[in-house]
Amino acid sequence: MAGTGKFIVIEGIDGSGKSTQVDRLYQRLKKENPDVVSTFEPSEGVVGRLIRDMLNGSIAVDQRTLAALFAADRTDHLLAPENGVMAMLDQGRVVLCDRYYFSSYAYHARYMDMDQVIQMNAHNAQILKPDLNIFIDVSPEVCLERISSSRSSFDIYEKIEVLKAVRENYLLAFERLKDNEHIIVINGNDSLDAVERSIYQKVRGLLQG
Ligand code: ADP
Ligand code: TYD
Repeated sequence: MAGTGKFIVIEGIDGSGKSTQVDRLYQRLKKENPDVVSTFEPSEGVVGRLIRDMLNGSIAVDQRTLAALFAADRTDHLLAPENGVMAMLDQGRVVLCDRYYFSSYAYHARYMDMDQVIQMNAHNAQILKPDLNIFIDVSPEVCLERISSSRSSFDIYEKIEVLKAVRENYLLAFERLKDNEHIIVINGNDSLDAVERSIYQKVRGLLQG
């Protein structure tokens, strides 16, 4: 059981603006509530570091192993004794998290059955369900433009296909789990300020409610 805090997750495909919006939300909430903290997955823990080496190609890995490691990293992120998410919630903090288990459902269902990925994360869902999942929905074309403007070389066809598939999987996962989860979809194609306002409005509603 989580303590008295709140757990707010921001989800989206690569380039949707998650990191930017988590940071903006953090800065804004911090002015009102010093007990807000911000974190992300893959985590900075030992499993998260291993995952990053796999994502950047330093270590070769099968996708099923990667899916299992993400689930393990999530448990570690939740339960790490000193600075884990559960410890922070027990202290009554508002925890903002860039990605959580819906990322696993969306990304790993490209390689295996989504139900299997949900099963792999069942213990994480049992430990902690987000008070709010915010999905920043941005068209894959717009995300691709944003990502490519900050990179030199790019396989455009492959990337757009991946972004489209992951977005479809997110929507599928939301549809499948909508009765058990608090999910809000935000139009992320708008300006940075407009997206920030929409997210803030939803979060204020939750924190005041
Ligand atoms: P993510 O964490 O989802 O991969 P980022 O927050 O890193 O996305 O954003 C990717 C890039 O797109 C950054 O250069 C960021 O400034 C830009 N960006 C994010 N949101 C918007 C927006 N609403 N309008 C224009 N540019 C944006
Ligand atoms: P992240 O650092 O959030 O990348 P970005 O800022 O580009 O969105 O996440 C790294 C990658 O890890 C990203 O491509 C999504 C992927 N990922 C999974 O495949 N499974 C997961 O469970 C999570 C949390 C992330």
